[in-house]
Amino acid sequence: MKKILSAVLAVAMLCTCVLMFTACGGNNSSAASSDTETKELHMATNAAFEPYEYKEGGEVVGIDADIAGAICKKLGYKLVIDDMDFDAIITAVTSGKADFGMAGMTITDERKQSVDFTDPYTNAVQVIIVNEKDSPVASADDLKGKSIGVQMGTTGDIYVTDIEDAKVERFNKGADAVLALTQGKVDAVVIDNQPAKAFVAQNPGTKILDDPFENEEYAICLKKGSELTEQFNKALKELKDDGTIDTIIKKYISE
Ligand code: ARG
Repeated sequence: MKKILSAVLAVAMLCTCVLMFTACGGNNSSAASSDTETKELHMATNAAFEPYEYKEGGEVVGIDADIAGAICKKLGYKLVIDDMDFDAIITAVTSGKADFGMAGMTITDERKQSVDFTDPYTNAVQVIIVNEKDSPVASADDLKGKSIGVQMGTTGDIYVTDIEDAKVERFNKGADAVLALTQGKVDAVVIDNQPAKAFVAQNPGTKILDDPFENEEYAICLKKGSELTEQFNKALKELKDDGTIDTIIKKYISE
């Protein structure tokens, strides 16, 4: 009888152990799946480019922040935004320090040599900001031989560098280029149209010329060969099709 009892006990204990193991195993696998749910994606940006990315109460907000948030939500990632100089973004992406770059960034052939771009999510145009009074620049042709402020490493910088005898003044932030304009240190600033509107609104006495040049397309850049690019394109397409991208853009830009 004793023998039978201890045998039963042994079997019972064995069963409990097996049950505990299975339970632990089960827990483990669900922890793993919640791991992927909260996996982070780091976005490299330069948050000095309203309305695409700028700081509000210490937080980076704007069209790009919202679109990136919507993409990450769709793909099951937590979005982390890393603010840096604009000309550091591509290196952050190629080195793997950031998973993607999104900063009102124009698709260019030169950049395509170091990173992959998603499909474009919006269009932009480079414009010229001048002082309202006594500006020596009234059109793009007048830029020849003038001193022109740009944000370092931007397409504005690239275009202006090609202008005959132009003296290019490169600033870390577009806002600093516009400040130099208001102080008479440069004759004009070349920058993307939407941030230009924000800068002009913040700097009375400046205006945007009606003579825009260089149409561009903005896209997200990723490490060359990244598997994320296809996933991002799929998410972007869905967000375009269901009107989310339009809604986000309209939230920040009133026509
Ligand atoms: N579209 C321009 C470029 O790609 C300027 C972008 C600047 N973006 C920024 N977040 N500061 O070069």
